This record gives sequence, structure tokens and C-alpha cells, in this order.
Amino acid sequence: TAAGVLALAACGPDEESAPAPASTSPAPAAGDLTLDAAAWRYDAEHDAYHQVGVTYVASPQAPDRERLAVVVPGAYFDAEDNGDGTFTVTASDGAVDGWTAATAPIVFPVNTPGYTGQPAVAEYRWEDVAATVSAGFVHVTAGLRGTDTNSDTFTGNAPWGVVDLKAAIRYVRANAEAIPGSRDRIVCYGHSGGGAQTAVTGTSGDAPEFTPYLEALGAAGTSDAIAAAVCWCPITSLGHANAAYEWNMGQFADTGTRAPGTWTEQYSKDLAAAYAGHLNSLDLLDEAGDALTLTSSATGIDLAGSYHDHVLAALTTSLNRFLGYTTFPHDGAATPVEFVAALDGGAGWVTFDQASGQATVRDLGGFVRSQKPPTKDVGAFDGVDRGATENAVFGHGTQNLHFARAAHDVVAAGEERYAQLQGWQAGYAASEYAADLEQTDSLGEDAAYRVDAYDPLHHLADGRTDRSLAPHWRIRTGLTQGDTASTVELNLAAALRGRGASVDFATVWGVGHTEAEETGDHTENFVAWVR
Ligand code: DHB
Repeated sequence: TAAGVLALAACGPDEESAPAPASTSPAPAAGDLTLDAAAWRYDAEHDAYHQVGVTYVASPQAPDRERLAVVVPGAYFDAEDNGDGTFTVTASDGAVDGWTAATAPIVFPVNTPGYTGQPAVAEYRWEDVAATVSAGFVHVTAGLRGTDTNSDTFTGNAPWGVVDLKAAIRYVRANAEAIPGSRDRIVCYGHSGGGAQTAVTGTSGDAPEFTPYLEALGAAGTSDAIAAAVCWCPITSLGHANAAYEWNMGQFADTGTRAPGTWTEQYSKDLAAAYAGHLNSLDLLDEAGDALTLTSSATGIDLAGSYHDHVLAALTTSLNRFLGYTTFPHDGAATPVEFVAALDGGAGWVTFDQASGQATVRDLGGFVRSQKPPTKDVGAFDGVDRGATENAVFGHGTQNLHFARAAHDVVAAGEERYAQLQGWQAGYAASEYAADLEQTDSLGEDAAYRVDAYDPLHHLADGRTDRSLAPHWRIRTGLTQGDTASTVELNLAAALRGRGASVDFATVWGVGHTEAEETGDHTENFVAWVR
């Protein structure tokens, strides 16, 4: 059996030193979740062992999805050829780049753009794992449900995507004897919807919100805590994302759904004005430990206070870093001073000080108009017609739903006035939001529960100590993206630091919604960071 063949657990810290599991999901029947140590296949050209199509839960709900593929550097195994294309392995004390079977990181890609799922790997392909496995990492790709598997039984909506990921992590932890790598070095990484699900996973190790879902799947009764989360452009904290979007960007735009006279223009202003109340409730601190708050300003939308300064400072830092790593001439500018002058166009939102050699971003509106105009309609995440991606994420099967209590509250407060303005329809009424918010999923949980489960800031809130936080984070986002507000990543970083996590953070000037990097290739940077 697998247990008899390998004794890797003896080499590594594994369960004992992993963050304490808060969950008590029962272990599935013995044997159900044991990886077969005699079923490895071997890629001799690249010296890698692999298994594909391994079911990682005892009671799959999407049997074609809830399967993982694991690829292991050849150095970590001695193998016996079974003569039928498969190999039975035993532990080896080989090393790759200093890593061993006991110490190697285990990396989980979360490639779920648009909150789709991640298909189970159909066939081993070296190209998909070359960068990580040749670095000595154990690579696990878990099939995950998502908006592409939504059906009338809620099989893809939140929180199932993250539940599946957690179940796969638990499976790998449960098979410490059969799968090399350190259970104290599990790393998840992803972009956008995948960066968001990575951020949720990294903040919610063994969080009780997920326990009933994991139990329903028959997930292993081990821990789903991870060591590190790597997020590019996480599109997260969705319950308040409509207001964040209008505060950061929408208030500075006046076309489309923000055109004068439309009800959505007024809704945009009301959302923007509502943001301060939410932001101030987060109790965020800056790196010096001072409170980050918004205070009122002349516009009626709170655009003053330490948080406003914090946002401008982050933009300023990104621009100065950019000026530092960019080779001039760049974009027709011979020098940084010329570049900044062209960027500003005489508007005064950004200046350059010759004496210090530093640029300063002075006005959020000027920055947004130049670099980050909104690309989404008002109601960017909880859409007024339920047409946004996130209305499907928090929908019921294939039916999109409203999900944000905060959006409901703004509509309810403004509804009478909105009804007098252009474009209003009865279907936008607050009662529609209210009815959707009441709907419950197959485990009886409503939108508020699911939105919280999917919000890293919920898990990071003061007092929520019954869950494990990944201690190591790397966050990179492109500043020009219209996909979400910059406040999303800034607040995530601040909340993580506030809870003691180490955060390698940068917003990248001039880069959009992509695996943003200041310099270099994102995969190479990822591997180097994990190392
Ligand atoms: C993604 C992009 C979005 O604009 C969004 O709202 C959710 C997800 C993505 O690219 O994954």
C-alpha cells in the first residue's frame, strides 16, 4: 500500500507543525482518499513523476472536476517499473536546488479567470509544470468548480470554487506519506478571479464558514491552511466593491452610465459617498500603525483624510519605482521629467521635483482620468440588471442574483429619486435586491454568508482568530486596470499587515489587468519569490 511504501512523513514537519486546524470535518472512510503509490507515471526526458485524475474528495459533487494532478521532481523518488507504464515509488533523499522531499514547496495554481472553475488536468504536459517542477517544487493542479459549472443545483457558485481548492489541499496534506513536499510550504497562486480565490484561501485556513461545505464533499479531515498566497490583480471584497469602484474611479467620469441626468449617475455618486462609512469600519492601519480613515471634503464625497493620502502615496510610490526601472528614452520622453510633464498634460495632477528627482501624484481625479478610467458600468460587481460576472458567482445555479447588502441599501435610500431620472426601470427596485439577498443555497446559507466567506477582509477582521492566516504574501496589480478599484488591493495589503503577515506588495505603473510585474517574467518572479 502507499503507506507501506513511503515514509516521507518521518522526514518532514507535516501535520504537527502546521497551523492548528480549527475544523473537525470527519475523516472519510479509510482508503477513500489514499493516493496509490503504485500508480505513478514517469517522464524520463524531464525526470518527473506524475499522476493525473486523482479524485480528492470522498463524495464528489462534480466528479469530473474534483480531481487533481500531481507532478513530482524525479529526485524525490526511487522507482520500480511495474512493467505496464506505471511505477511504484519509494522515498529518495535526492535534492533539487537544495530542496528535498521533506522540504520542497507544494504549489497550487488557481487559474480561474472570471471566477470560472479550473478544469481537471486531462493529460500530463511538461510545459505546464516545467518552471515549478524544474525548480524542485511539487506541482498540484486541482480541478475546481466555478461559474463555468454553475447548474441548477448550485454546483459552481461561491463558495464551491474555494471549497474544492481547500479539499484538494486537505487531500495533499492527508497523503503526506505518498506525496513529497513540505505541508508547511503550501503556496497558492493566481490572477484576477484566481488571485481573489487565492486571497480567500490564504486568509481562511480551516475557517468555520467552510466546514459544512467541506463535510458535504467528504473532504479529508486535515487542515487547509497554507503558507503563502501569491495574487495578481485580486478581484475581491465583492460585497463593497460597487462603492469602492465609484469612490476610486466612477466619481471622476461623466459618460455612459455616469452621464448627467441618468439615475445611474446619481447611484454612482451615492455609492461613492457610501464608501467612507465602509472604509472607516475596516479599522485599517498604515505601515507606521496610524489609522487610515476618510473624512469629508468639499465634493460631498469623502476625498480627504489619511486614507486618501495613503492612496495618493501608493500611486506616487508606483510612479517613482517605474521611473527608476524604466530605461529612457521611453514613450517619446528623453528623461523622467519629460515623461511626467507629458503624463500631466498641464493639468497639475502629477508633478516632478528636479531637486529630489521624485514625482508626486497630487490628485486622484487627475490620475483616474489619465490612467484608470472606469471600464465597467455603475454597479460594477452587483450589476443593476444582475449582468455582472459576480452576479453569476453569487447566483443560484445558472440564475444570476443580487448579492451585496451595501448595494441594496444605497438603492433603497435613493430609489424615490432614481425613479424620476433617465433609465430607471421597475426591475431596479430595492425590493428586487432584497428578495435575492434572502435566497439560500443547498446548505441553507444566504448571500451575506457566502459574500463573507469569499471576502479576505472578513477573515482578517479583528477577533476572527479561529482560522489560520498564511504568513507570506506577494501581491502585484496593474494600476491602469478598470476591473476593480485600487482600494481593493491596498486594503487587502493593509489588513494583512495589520494581522502580522509579511506582504511583498506593489502596484505596477502603466500596466493593466494582467499578471502584472514591475520587471521580468511573472512565472520566473513567482518561482524566485517562492524559493
Ligand atoms: C476577472 C475580471 C473581472 O473584471 C471580474 O470582475 C472578475 C474576474 C478575471 O479576469 O478573472
